[in-house]
Amino acid sequence: MAAFPPADLKALVEGAGQAHLLARWEELDASQQASLERQLRSIDFPLVSRLTAEGRAKASDAAEVASKAGRAAPPAQVIRQPQTDADRAEWNAARQTGEELLQGGRVGAILVAGGQGSRLGFDKPKGMFPIGPVSDRTLFHIFCEQLLALGRKYGKPIPYFVMTSDATHADTVAFFEEHKFFGLDPKDVYFFQQGALPAVDDATGRVLLASRDQVSLSPDGHGGILKALKRSGLIDVMEHRGLEVLYYHQVDNPTAPMCDPAFLGFHKRLGSQMTTKVVAKESAEEKMGVLVSLDGRTQIIEYSDLPLERAQAVDAAGGLLLWAGNTAVHAFDRAFLARITSVENALPFHIAHKPVPYVDASGSRVEPRPDQKNAYKFEQFIFDVLPLTDVALVVEGDRKREFNPVKNATGKDSPETSRAALCRNAADLLREAGVAVRDGVKVEISPLFAMDPQEARTRRPGSAAIEQDTILGPA
Ligand code: UTP
Repeated sequence: MAAFPPADLKALVEGAGQAHLLARWEELDASQQASLERQLRSIDFPLVSRLTAEGRAKASDAAEVASKAGRAAPPAQVIRQPQTDADRAEWNAARQTGEELLQGGRVGAILVAGGQGSRLGFDKPKGMFPIGPVSDRTLFHIFCEQLLALGRKYGKPIPYFVMTSDATHADTVAFFEEHKFFGLDPKDVYFFQQGALPAVDDATGRVLLASRDQVSLSPDGHGGILKALKRSGLIDVMEHRGLEVLYYHQVDNPTAPMCDPAFLGFHKRLGSQMTTKVVAKESAEEKMGVLVSLDGRTQIIEYSDLPLERAQAVDAAGGLLLWAGNTAVHAFDRAFLARITSVENALPFHIAHKPVPYVDASGSRVEPRPDQKNAYKFEQFIFDVLPLTDVALVVEGDRKREFNPVKNATGKDSPETSRAALCRNAADLLREAGVAVRDGVKVEISPLFAMDPQEARTRRPGSAAIEQDTILGPA
């Protein structure tokens, strides 16, 4: 245990006006000192101080936010769900292109799983949440089985790039190992960790301590993926593996069809650099970011930046003008992604004003009330890549089937609604395959059993009706 911090660390921290971070150094044991030193050296203090100043000035942005929303129009380059035979032919052609990409081994998948999942209130990484309505399979299991099934169907593995954070890394890796990577070849699964940024006291600009030896750090947002891909070298691995398109998804939606061939096919055929899957918003009030065309670029406006009267604006047909809700499923052109990971801080930072617990100068823990906003937190968002593209595309998905995320513990977008959707999708698939499913029965299908009605028909020829809760699993 060292009585004094290393001189260069002291200079770094004092130079940034953050001397309080080392005030209790001599009370810490050697491993706590080492851990605090590691955390402090990882902080970009000039960036933090710039962002804090921006946080304080933020109130003056309100007029700009309203003006942007006023200028926003529906996305310019958009493929809607098919309605006519001509549309269906276009979707089939896109599906074929996507299938060719998969057969050529030119598709990889990215999962962002570094979030803290605070709304769900589950004490493990969200991917470990049991969501299978009958089997209790976890979200991670469901994603990996889809990739395994797709890899078998198209004859080429789909490398899986899983982003974690300090908050989720160790548990996530151990869970994959314990479950033998859910059947995937471990050589096809790459874990990489995103960075973290500190919470800062809004009045003093001081970086907050979560305990005597812990800075109050949180993951730097899903946009942190750009730095993390670069730092880990995985952006080069993607190239070496011959990948052309990266399917990107979040950890919370078990019904999003992974690497959906039609989605990937449209992306490829239109030469898009970043394609986003959207669904029609249910109501103007729904808390969902919208894809828009703004100042000649495709962009996302967060729901908190969309004034209600603008969200309520309707088009000539009476539907919502800004209808295209973001599902956070994207496809990236690999070469484009590599280019933007090379640009330092290509994405802006979003600054949130929040109640954040901390330890004060006397070493006591302070827990602000939920309405007591005392700190700024900083994050980058992946959708801010959109305005950096020259060609961006928006593709509409089938909302009921594809968008059933697990966000909240109860109510809308909760385990209950997501499990119900998994059952509904399975029953629909079976009924389309000619298998009767009694109403109210819970049924779950592994993609290793069947990914579509045709496969289900071959796996269960002339099959009997499903009368009780059932799991149709791998052969
Ligand atoms: P959310 O916006 O739902 O945030 O993340 P969250 O932290 O998971 O959940 P709440 O808001 O605390 O309840 C959307 C997706 O982005 C990932 C999450 O893991 C999820 O897949 N994410 C979010 C990251 O990978 N890193 C982050 O820093 C933030």
